[in-house]
Amino acid sequence: MEVLRVDGGRRLAGRVRISGAKNAALPAFAAALLTEEEVVLHNVPDLSDVRYMARILGHLGAEVEEGEPGTWRIRGAELRHEAPYELVRKMRASICLLGSLVGRLGRARVSLPGGCVIGPRPVDLHIKGLRKLGCEVTVTGGYLEVEGSARRGGSAFLGGRQGSTVTGTANLLMAAVLTPGSTRIESAACEPEIDDLARMLVGMGARIEGIGSPTLRVEGVGRLSGGEHTILPDRVETGTFLLAAALVGDGVEIEGSPPEHLSAVLDKLEEAGIRPAYEGGRWWVPASPELRPVDVITMPHPGFPTDLQAQMTALMAVTPGISVITERIYPNRFMHIPELQRMGADLALEGASCIVKGVPSLSGAPVMASDLRASAALVLAALRADGESWIQRIYHLDRGYEGLDTKLRLLGASIERLPAEAMPRELGEEE
Ligand code: EPZ
Repeated sequence: MEVLRVDGGRRLAGRVRISGAKNAALPAFAAALLTEEEVVLHNVPDLSDVRYMARILGHLGAEVEEGEPGTWRIRGAELRHEAPYELVRKMRASICLLGSLVGRLGRARVSLPGGCVIGPRPVDLHIKGLRKLGCEVTVTGGYLEVEGSARRGGSAFLGGRQGSTVTGTANLLMAAVLTPGSTRIESAACEPEIDDLARMLVGMGARIEGIGSPTLRVEGVGRLSGGEHTILPDRVETGTFLLAAALVGDGVEIEGSPPEHLSAVLDKLEEAGIRPAYEGGRWWVPASPELRPVDVITMPHPGFPTDLQAQMTALMAVTPGISVITERIYPNRFMHIPELQRMGADLALEGASCIVKGVPSLSGAPVMASDLRASAALVLAALRADGESWIQRIYHLDRGYEGLDTKLRLLGASIERLPAEAMPRELGEEE
């Protein structure tokens, strides 16, 4: 186990390059199984979740090898149709194998992922979509069993109580591209990662219209060919670095996602008083003026992304005034609150909203990472806090951020990755 030790208060300056998007890379690995030919993926982030997905593909019978950094070669010539519990339970995103196995093999047996710390992770919309293609879907012994050899194109509405479903849309899209007939997906997720997946599928010979809109139309084809695809930049990592620059930056350049992938975040940053400039694939973030408090409600894209909610809370924690941060996608996604409070943040949870009273400063403390994005919020707060912070269980961070500590150190942060034993015993977690 490792920890991060951060000496807060250092200012950031310089240039950082954002990695490929985790939430595009994972479905892209699944999509590579839709053909027996070789698929080459570029700009794949070096993340534990990606390596885990590669392991699952290997278990399914695919040849998976890492080329030069960021490049993976995948060839699913002969495939098994079952993704076992002991593999799936550790990463719920592996649910997006369902659609590609049904599309390629006509059947799938994938363990139900179970919940996670940010709340229940239902798959009822995934099931609804596959049933609209005529698949038989049953849940037995914690597994989703799908029989879809007689499937035909159909029409599915994927809107749930919290809007659409990202991996649900990915699953239905990957099943539909090799399903005879026309399929219409209404209330499809419009996250840029879905657009990236659709473009990858089109590059393999799929016929998809409406990319980028909530209505996708698919004409099934007999087979898909291999090819190459470059993963788009990670908008959540880009947003995380925009917020880091707002917190402790003195002129930071970020090579990352384009404005249209972050419109709601940019809108809120502008409201708070931060105006990053974008040109030629790069953001320029000057030192922030006095910040103003803002209210945020997370929504499906193009709304404010739930994956940046905790990080925005860290910024508002030191912004004078009162901000209200409301989580509409995952009501439990507030694991960062007690840890930020340990650093002196003045936060109060009222239902699905966090009431933030800005404080003049935070103080470094030993804190515990709990889930991927909450961990990033703790890093941001530690960068700003006075004094030393220790962040434990940073394996959560490594699931979704490639070398976050290294990138921050190159920008001037005092942050180092140490073995857990390096942490003073009196600060560490109970044995
Ligand atoms: C994707 O998860 C992302 N993960 C999540 O990022 C992200 O937070 C989420 O979309 C929302 O943007 C990947 O892409 C691998 P959903 P996903 O299905 O697809 C409800 C991160 O930190 N719902 O869009 O699992 C669900 O409970 C991760 O990188 C149903 O009700 O999310 C939630 O409230 C965390 N029924 C909402 O919809 C369903 O069948 C959105 O879920 C499916 C979902």
